[in-house]
Amino acid sequence: MIRHVIAAIATLLALWASYYMYSLDKTVHKLQEIHRVIKASEIKVQLKKPTIVREDVQTDNKAAAEKQLKAKNKELDKKLEALKNKAGNIAAFKVSKLYKQNCSSCHGVNGRGIIGPSLVGKSKEFILKQLKDFKSGKRRNYVMYGLLQKMDDEKLNNLATEISTFKEKWDKYNNK
Ligand code: HEC
Repeated sequence: MIRHVIAAIATLLALWASYYMYSLDKTVHKLQEIHRVIKASEIKVQLKKPTIVREDVQTDNKAAAEKQLKAKNKELDKKLEALKNKAGNIAAFKVSKLYKQNCSSCHGVNGRGIIGPSLVGKSKEFILKQLKDFKSGKRRNYVMYGLLQKMDDEKLNNLATEISTFKEKWDKYNNK
């Protein structure tokens, strides 16, 4: 009799245990399912935001940055070209030793004037007359007077001839 009771209890226990296991398994399965859904949604969110959105932003930025860089490079190229031209012009704008040593400090290496007035575009006749007048003291200027005392007519003539070509030279080297 007792054996039957024990057997019955054992069977009931076994049945309960298996049901418990079954329900537990169900719960676990449910939890797993929930976890999976959450994870999937996480992945979706993660995938969407950093990759797709960022990529868009990145490509936008990239395009803008490239555009900016190109514009900057163009600008720099232009500046460099201008500098090259200027350097070339200055190098190409050769003057005589006589002018450079005696006159350029005040009238500029290209005759455009610094302390002294610009001599560009003035005729040979006009310049020669001024030089002669400065030298004789007819046109009063102590700087020019003192400077020209040691120069003979040939030098004055050479200087006047050279200076009268400055405008043409300048225009030529500026590609005008
Ligand atoms: C120390 C500075 C200085 C030097 C160097 C100098 N000049 Fe002058 N020059 C002047 C000044 C200042 C004037 C303006 C004088 C005035 O208006 O009375 C002038 C005026 C002239 C003028 C008259 C320009 C005009 O429009 O009326 C000529 C031409 C001239 N200089 C040629 C020369 C030549 C050529 C040399 C070199 C041999 C020379 N100068 C060297 C300062 C200088």
